[in-house]
Amino acid sequence: MKIWGGARLEGEVWLPPAKNSVLPILAASLLCDGPVRLRQTPRLTDVENSLALLRAAGMHAAWEGEDLLLTPGRPGKSALPDGPVRAMRSSVFYLAPMLHRMGEVRMTMPGGCRLGPRPIDIHLEGLACMGAAAVWKGEQLTLSAPEGLHGAEFALRLPSVGATETLMMAAVKARGITVLHGAAREPEVVDLARFLMAAGAHICGAGTSTIWIQGRERLSGAAFRPVADRIVAATVLAAAAATGGSVTLRRCVPDHLEPVLEVLARAGCCIRREGPAALMLEASARLAGAGWVTAGAYPAFPTDAAPVLAAAFLTAAGPSYFEDTVFEHRFGCAAGFTALGGRAKVRGRLLELAPAEHLQGAAVSAADLRGGAALAVAALQAQGESTIAQAGYIRRGYGDLAALLRSLGAHACWEEKTERKNERKQQAEGEKYFSEAGGISLP
Ligand code: EPZ
Repeated sequence: MKIWGGARLEGEVWLPPAKNSVLPILAASLLCDGPVRLRQTPRLTDVENSLALLRAAGMHAAWEGEDLLLTPGRPGKSALPDGPVRAMRSSVFYLAPMLHRMGEVRMTMPGGCRLGPRPIDIHLEGLACMGAAAVWKGEQLTLSAPEGLHGAEFALRLPSVGATETLMMAAVKARGITVLHGAAREPEVVDLARFLMAAGAHICGAGTSTIWIQGRERLSGAAFRPVADRIVAATVLAAAAATGGSVTLRRCVPDHLEPVLEVLARAGCCIRREGPAALMLEASARLAGAGWVTAGAYPAFPTDAAPVLAAAFLTAAGPSYFEDTVFEHRFGCAAGFTALGGRAKVRGRLLELAPAEHLQGAAVSAADLRGGAALAVAALQAQGESTIAQAGYIRRGYGDLAALLRSLGAHACWEEKTERKNERKQQAEGEKYFSEAGGISLP
């Protein structure tokens, strides 16, 4: 991605449904006996990889405009293809639905952003309590439950978002009652529960740390629009704040952004709620330092927003400290910050930022999804041109971030070289087609 910094961002953004809601809900569609319509599904690489897994499992998946329509077909194979499994952490969401659908699932260790160790032990311990048996052969996992899953009482050793979602999906069709203690309370967990309940599941307490689930034999389908993406929201707010701009977020849930808004308000931004689903931010010319920000499990400051918010504070008037208690290596973007002229230092889980007078465009490289978006926010403040390599990471969670930033007045695009390469490839394919079809060559 290329960005020419210096423009003040201004405008309004309608938030898309949250990636981290859409991905578990896509997996949960395997639990449904009827069709599922997911409204306004964002076109993300992770969504495409999820569709590959769903199709392998025997679902029919088709786009209808912005909606995704998923209909159950004949159950596919119990082995999930390695490529999409390794491409994202969210492949772990297929464990429980596949157990219900086929009685067995085989897959390699899920991939995803390298933010430190990301084991799946809590997912597997919970599933074991519900009657699943795991066998590892190297990185290959086979999980089976020939007699089906049964309800259980299970305490998560930490409030893992993914494990809470896995165990909810396991419990909605297990025999009997499940009680999850120490569950994650993120809005995306609540959203998955809302989707499952729309399909007929009995769930109580999602959004608190204890969730009760009464298993049911069958779930119907449902039409559902997932909750707004609070991390895209935080990214847009950070971009506006970094450039002294102003932005209105529409179709958002301001309550989900509370800790992010608190940091921005403390730094001098003026924030106004405009009704239940919109808010406006107006930034001062130069932000004050963020002070100390600790990212943790909801309702604390969101870990995914930590790098993007930090980027907005590179040229702030005072120091900022971002500590992440969820992941060991959250701030892989720090090297890019430094290359752009930022004064960033990582000490363990802490990112320290000293005020920099200005940033200068540079060639940097994304280390992960949110880190890549953070480099875009940093580049918006830099003089001249910046190039972000490995920007494919960004497409995993934002679709077209360059277009989103352009809609607010930024100068951003995907590198021409790549686009020209694609054009040339298309042209070559076209020429091949025409010459095979009768010797007509393109000019
Ligand atoms: C989800 O990941 C999100 N991904 C992440 O968003 C987000 O950063 C994270 O929750 C925390 O909010 C999706 O929803 C698809 P966790 P998840 O299980 O479920 C440890 C983004 O950029 N842990 O809550 O993988 C783990 O190592 C992504 O959109 C275990 O030890 O997060 C981590 O330190 C990145 N054993 C902590 O818990 C387990 O079995 C929290 O992880 C599971 C997790």
